[in-house]
Amino acid sequence: MAITENQPADQEEEKLSDECKALLLSLPKEKGWRTLHQYRFQGFWCQSAEIQSIMAFQNHFQANDSDVVLATIPKSGTTWLKALAFAIVNRHRFSIKSHPLLTSNPHHLVPFFEYNLYANNQLPDLSKFPEPRLFGTHIPYPSLGTIKKSNCKMVYICRNPFDTFVSSWHFINKGKPQSETPMSLEEAFDMYCKGIVGFGPFWEHMLGYWKESLNRPDKVLFLKYEDMKEDSALHLKRLAKFLEYPFTLEEERNGVIQDIEKLCSFETMKKLEVNKSGMFVKNFEIKSLFRKAEVGDWVNYLSPKMAERLSKVIEERLGGSGLRFNVFS
Ligand code: A3P
Repeated sequence: MAITENQPADQEEEKLSDECKALLLSLPKEKGWRTLHQYRFQGFWCQSAEIQSIMAFQNHFQANDSDVVLATIPKSGTTWLKALAFAIVNRHRFSIKSHPLLTSNPHHLVPFFEYNLYANNQLPDLSKFPEPRLFGTHIPYPSLGTIKKSNCKMVYICRNPFDTFVSSWHFINKGKPQSETPMSLEEAFDMYCKGIVGFGPFWEHMLGYWKESLNRPDKVLFLKYEDMKEDSALHLKRLAKFLEYPFTLEEERNGVIQDIEKLCSFETMKKLEVNKSGMFVKNFEIKSLFRKAEVGDWVNYLSPKMAERLSKVIEERLGGSGLRFNVFS
């Protein structure tokens, strides 16, 4: 499904730097899920504006050993992970009753390198960020620049590809202007299975962090969305310990873990006024970040044939890695 020459130029690309425009000419490209094109940059698929931001991030970001980087492939539980990590490391600064998570969306408290800090050719001043600095990213592990050499902590949340796909397809279509035709489930699925999806192939994204979490478990914590849904308190404790903010026995006795679990739960967050209005990134409303949050919702969308195809892709690409998924609730 290569892009043909006579399609109109992507207006977004007109705004990019000359350096980025020149680079784009040399990259393999395909139809994008939400932009006209997506490009294969450093081995993964992404949009032109993301490439410009990622290059700026790679050239300028200096990691501190005390930084915390929260990494995901889109629609895997990024919003949830940001809320939990923010609540854990800042729990002595804010009470639950007047918590920033009640009045700010987690993405506004924990910015992305590629959509916020280094977007639109800007260079952020990170010197005033409170420590530990918390950042979010969808960038694959091999492209993380100075972070790879630092001792900063990374947390990756991984979700089963079936639900991640369905969540992505819904999200992309919610972000499309009404004047555009929605992307069909079949077309999106075909691209997903071929690996042509933002920051994908999904198997390479997962494997990059998975392998690093096995090699350096003190540096990368690999969490699974389904496990967290099943026992949030257990994984909250693991996360706090990994970040070196373990809960004390007294905190456990006082129900601090349950308080954070509830504050960051889908049910609480979806109902908050702050999460019902406003924009997340261009074209995407904050409210579209909160859909169903279920394990196994994919059965309502994928035919048995589609499920078989994706299972085969997973077996071929991830079989033998030790990475396994729960795909039913
Ligand atoms: P669904 O589309 O299946 O409902 P991301 O945050 O990476 O964009 O992922 C979005 C997915 O996480 C959506 O899944 C969304 O509903 C779900 N989600 C959002 N907030 C959540 C929370 N606090 N707890 C669990 N899941 C959450």
